Amino acid sequence: MQTVQQLLQNNNVDTKLVSAIDAVLEASKEISFLLQKGAMSGILGSAEQENVQGETQKKLDVISNDLLKDILKDCPVVAGIASEEEDFPVPANKDGEFLVIFDPLDGSSNIDINVTVGTIFSILPSNGGDASVEKTYLQSGRNQLAAGYVLYGPSTLLVMTTGQGVDIFTLDPETKEFVLTDAQSTITPATQEFAINMSNQRFWAEPMQNYVADLLAGETGKLGKRYNMRWVAAMVADVHRIIHRGGIFMYPWDSRDAKKPGKLRLMYEGNPMSMLVEQAGGMSSTGEMAIMDVQPETIHQRVPVILGSKEEVEMALSYSK
Ligand code: F6P
Ligand code: MN
Repeated sequence: MQTVQQLLQNNNVDTKLVSAIDAVLEASKEISFLLQKGAMSGILGSAEQENVQGETQKKLDVISNDLLKDILKDCPVVAGIASEEEDFPVPANKDGEFLVIFDPLDGSSNIDINVTVGTIFSILPSNGGDASVEKTYLQSGRNQLAAGYVLYGPSTLLVMTTGQGVDIFTLDPETKEFVLTDAQSTITPATQEFAINMSNQRFWAEPMQNYVADLLAGETGKLGKRYNMRWVAAMVADVHRIIHRGGIFMYPWDSRDAKKPGKLRLMYEGNPMSMLVEQAGGMSSTGEMAIMDVQPETIHQRVPVILGSKEEVEMALSYSK
């Protein structure tokens, strides 16, 4: 079976980019191992806790961040990193060519209940810029050289693109290699499944309220289909379901906080997931424009997200026209 490294080589992906990807994957294997040990690793829980020796344990999302940070800083091709867990960018190597941006443990509230979490990553060119300043990182998603996620579920999966379609790999627990298990995955254009946190309904804009009302209306409603609903509350898992069997995922604009035009983060959630979805033939939008066309203003900026099966996303967007 083909390993991820073999596939990247066959696709003639720049060997330097491959080593940046490798560094992310090394860290993700460690994270996968810690998650599998579960409570035995003594680091579960979403708050800092004391272990039996009375030592304060770090949260698993902090540990995951540190693992990624340490491995990436040691990787000569990496110029700098930015992470959900870091307030500011972290410069790495002077001659590095890449910026690696990541959400070390997406959906981390799922850890306590032994449900799927993931690592999301996005790789941008550094273009010789100063990797200690935020400005160097503020590039649109169209500049991404690679994007993907590692999903820690019943098996550990890597879903990745370098701009040549989307491939899915499974971590072989024996060889510790990611092997290709689904080549050139595509998203079916029309489906009958949606994912949204319905508890925010009253805060959505009117077009979103109208669209979801029609989704709920079923066969006799305007859309003429009975829709099913799913919500894992980990973007990695919800997007993975969509890559696998189609559907529409939404974390739309809502009125709860004027400073937050959505919940999800542009640079390490919206952009990498949008690159995957577009590469798989799906569509991704803020509701007004393609997510990857948004010019970032800050590393931690939030963005409304509507993504998935092309025809379903087009239908959702038609409500605001
Ligand atoms: O990273 C943010 C996140 O945990 C996503 O993974 C997930 O899609 C979303 O938030 C869940 O939001 P909520 O808690 O509103 O269901
Ligand atoms: Mn997240």
